[in-house]
Amino acid sequence: MDNELMSNEENYAFDVAGYLHVPGVLTQEEVASLNKALDAVADSEMLLGGLHRELFRDLLVHPKAVWYLNQIVGHGFRLDQAPRLLGNREGETGMTLTGGDEPRNPSEAYFQQNGRRSSQGVEAIWVLDDIAEGDGGLVVVQASHKSNVETPRDLATGVDDMGLVIQPELKAGDLFLVASATLQGVRPWKDEPKRLLTYWYAGRAAIQSNPDGPNAETEALPRWADEATPAQKAVMYVPGFKNSSPPPVLNTDGEETWVEADTSVIHPSIYTRDPISGIDEKEFYFWDLNGYLVVRGVMDAEWLAAANEAVDKFQDRIVVGSELAGGSVSQAGTGRPLLPGLLDLPDPYNEPFRRMIAHPSVVHRLNWMGGSGYRTGGATVFCAVQGTSGHSLHDGNEPMSPSRGYYFKNGRSYCETVTITWQLRDVEPGLGGFACVPGSHKTQYSTPRGIRTCDDTMGLVVQPVMKAGDVLFFMDGGCTHGALAWKNPIPRRGVLIKYQSKNSNWGGGVIDPQDRWGDMVEDMTEAQFAVMRGPERDGRHRTVPRLVVHDGQVFVSYDAEGDSYSSKYRKPGEKRK
Ligand SMILES: [Fe+2]
Repeated sequence: MDNELMSNEENYAFDVAGYLHVPGVLTQEEVASLNKALDAVADSEMLLGGLHRELFRDLLVHPKAVWYLNQIVGHGFRLDQAPRLLGNREGETGMTLTGGDEPRNPSEAYFQQNGRRSSQGVEAIWVLDDIAEGDGGLVVVQASHKSNVETPRDLATGVDDMGLVIQPELKAGDLFLVASATLQGVRPWKDEPKRLLTYWYAGRAAIQSNPDGPNAETEALPRWADEATPAQKAVMYVPGFKNSSPPPVLNTDGEETWVEADTSVIHPSIYTRDPISGIDEKEFYFWDLNGYLVVRGVMDAEWLAAANEAVDKFQDRIVVGSELAGGSVSQAGTGRPLLPGLLDLPDPYNEPFRRMIAHPSVVHRLNWMGGSGYRTGGATVFCAVQGTSGHSLHDGNEPMSPSRGYYFKNGRSYCETVTITWQLRDVEPGLGGFACVPGSHKTQYSTPRGIRTCDDTMGLVVQPVMKAGDVLFFMDGGCTHGALAWKNPIPRRGVLIKYQSKNSNWGGGVIDPQDRWGDMVEDMTEAQFAVMRGPERDGRHRTVPRLVVHDGQVFVSYDAEGDSYSSKYRKPGEKRK
């Protein structure tokens, strides 16, 4: 353990979700002695200084916890709050959630760059009882440590879980690490309270809670502070004293400066929330958080009937493609049946699909998801039958793809590729279909194999349940997505329509240098000709020439081996064939 680093799986899980479940860190004997000690302790906040303190001091610097905290918080981390049983504090248990990253609190926030990461606050939760589904206790919201959008009030207050609140299933002896910026709460226990012994750690410089030790009572200010104005005094506060945090809040009208009675943070922005944007704020939050969105009940019964009738009618046009499970054990099966060309079906069968491509529900959302100017290439219905393989999960924020990724800036979603699936039939829980990794559109780590194959999902993959008439939007290229093997005896019917932004080209259109420039490109060398082409994304088939410099000379490569440019150069000056 000394020299090893966290695996890519563990890095990915914490980076995507904002928490990491480490099973079986404590032996059952260790759990039993901790429980016995807790039975004998009246006040769980005195654990480090009271009876049996050695047991709790051992956990404070438990080798496994230290190893993770060094990598997740950073070296020099420190304990911020005394360990105690989660939910034991007055008002801690209830429906309210805390955390989330908008507005950002830098003293608790999650930072990640160039392979380095620091979650400024992390709770190390030692699980001392088995906790099953529905037992209550700790709840978390996946990916919320990176949310760009303020938590909707209904979600924060527990009025509407929005399908996002997860109560992890845990076993006695497990360690559960949670970023402080992750939206979280403690729900009432169903029966007996279970024991989650929690240690709050912070980055070495992060100011979080105030201490209550004997030398933290009186703030030490410079001698002239007696003569200072309240405003002057306010900027000289010293961290680490009983009342230092939250600090005094200074404000000004440009003439006067004063100390606010209220300590709420003042942090002006040149942008304000737009009350007439027409955006449903829960949808916006959900989209930014997860990388997908389900809009309910867009199609009525009549429209659904017409679309289904058209698919029934052209069953003979279904093409069964290849098996797409990508070596998965759990998702293996038969090839994927597709019925393409829905917009070109004979009249009147095309009509239910032509209605989809510029429908108000779609236009409204595409406009805020990525800005206007998008276009589509056609509509295909996915017709998986029982036994059809899954489609191995693909894409994600790492490696980055400017033509397909997600970016958020100044209150706007910039999604370059949005794919929409119109559900013509119900999508039941656990029976296969579209699946994705919520939050993967922001990850800095590559997708682990277990996620691709869904053979080891680490609890990160969701398969949204939908009704006929619902419309699914997802960040194609940004959010890691695919399909789980279809297990429903009723075949799948999802009409897939892709939209690409105005900013890049998948292919097609005017690309050929001759078409684009005319005679100007006559007799150019292969290398010169290569840079005269029009925009094209160059997906799987790798038809876009690349220029390579080797020994000071420029070569053209069509090397399909990634971007390694290892072979098949054309000689400098060689004319194209
Ligand atoms: Fe895809």
